[in-house]
Amino acid sequence: MPIEFAERIRRIPVYPAAGGYARADLVKLASNETPFPPLPAVREAIERALATLNRYPDPANSVLRRTLSERYDVPAGRIAIGNGSCDILLAAGEALLEPGAEVVYAWPSFSVYPHLAAASGARAVTVPLDSQHRHDLEAMAREITVATRLAIVCNPNNPTSTAIPLADIAGFLAEVPRHVCVIVDEAYCEFNLLEDPDATLPLLDAHPNLVLLRTFSKVHGLCGLRVGFALCGSEELPRALDQVRQPFFCNALAQAAATEALAHQDAVLDRVTRTIAERISVDERLRALGLEPAESQANFCWFALGADRDEEAILQGLADRGVLVRGGGALGSEVPALRVTYGLPEENARFLDALAELL
Ligand SMILES: Cc1ncc(COP(=O)(O)O)c(C=O)c1O
Repeated sequence: MPIEFAERIRRIPVYPAAGGYARADLVKLASNETPFPPLPAVREAIERALATLNRYPDPANSVLRRTLSERYDVPAGRIAIGNGSCDILLAAGEALLEPGAEVVYAWPSFSVYPHLAAASGARAVTVPLDSQHRHDLEAMAREITVATRLAIVCNPNNPTSTAIPLADIAGFLAEVPRHVCVIVDEAYCEFNLLEDPDATLPLLDAHPNLVLLRTFSKVHGLCGLRVGFALCGSEELPRALDQVRQPFFCNALAQAAATEALAHQDAVLDRVTRTIAERISVDERLRALGLEPAESQANFCWFALGADRDEEAILQGLADRGVLVRGGGALGSEVPALRVTYGLPEENARFLDALAELL
C-alpha cells in the first residue's frame, strides 16, 4: 500500500524546473540567471564565513538587515530575509491564506504563485494579461473581494518580461483595502528602464500592507546560495513570516555574500548595462527572424513562435544543439512560445543561430 499523503499534496503543482543540466557544454538560458560569476569581493566574504560554519547562522540576519536598511532607508524591523525570495512567497502564503480566502494574481506569471493557493486551500483568482503581455491592474482591482488576503503583482513579469508604470501600481494600491497584503515581486526591477529600480520605495510609507519582494538571485548572481528579501510597509508581515518558518532559514554564507554584494552597486550597474545591450541586439535579431518579442524590461525575452510551429520540437532542437531555454507551455502560455534569458554575446549567438536553423 502506498504512503498516504495529505490532501493538499494532490493539489500542489510540481515546480516546472528546467531539465537537461547534465551536459557540460550547455548554454543555460532557461532560468533567468546572470551569466556573470560572483564578484571577487563576494567570494572572499564567503571564504571568510567558511571558518565559522560549525556555528548556526545569525537567526535574525542582523548584519544583512542593517545593511539593507541603510541601503533602502527602510527600518530593519520592516525587512524580511528569505532562503531565496521564493521562501518569502511561500511563507507569506502560509501566513495569509487558508480555505475560504482568496489570492489574486495575473496569469501567465511566476510559476510559484499557484503553489500558494494549492498549499493553503485558498482560492486562486487569476487575471489574464493584456494584449501586450502586461498586467491588467484595473481588472485585478475588480477581483478584490472581502475574501482577498493577498494580491501579487510581478513587475517586470516573469515569464512575459513586460513592466507596468509606477503610476499604475500606485493607482492599484490606492484601490486595494488596507487588510489585503500586496506583494510587488520585483525580482527583475534593476533591468527595468521604465523607472528607477527604487521608484516603488516611497509607496511603502503610504501603504503598510505593501511588500516589495527582491532577490540576490538575479542581478547579484547569487542564486546558488538562495537569498532574497522583502521591504515591507509595516512590521506585520516580517513578524508573521518568522512564526511560520524554521529558525536559521538563511545560511551563513548567503548572509555574508549578500551583505558584501550590496557594497558593489557599480558592478550591478555595469551588469545591467551589458545585459540591456544584449537585450537590444537579441530582440533585433528575433525581429529579423519574423518573431515579435514582448517589450522586455527584464533579463529575458518572451515571444510567440507562431500557431503552426511545434514548441516541443523547437525546444528539443535547441537542446540537441546544446541550448537550454524554456517553453511557454510549461509557463502558462496557450500558444507556442519561448522564454529565453539573455546570456553572454557568444551564448546568445549560439541560441539565435540554432533557432534560425530550426525555424
Ligand atoms: C518573478 C520571480 N520572483 C521570484 C523569483 C525567485 O527567486 P529566488 O527564490 O531565487 O530569490 C524568481 C525566480 O526566477 C522570479 O522569476
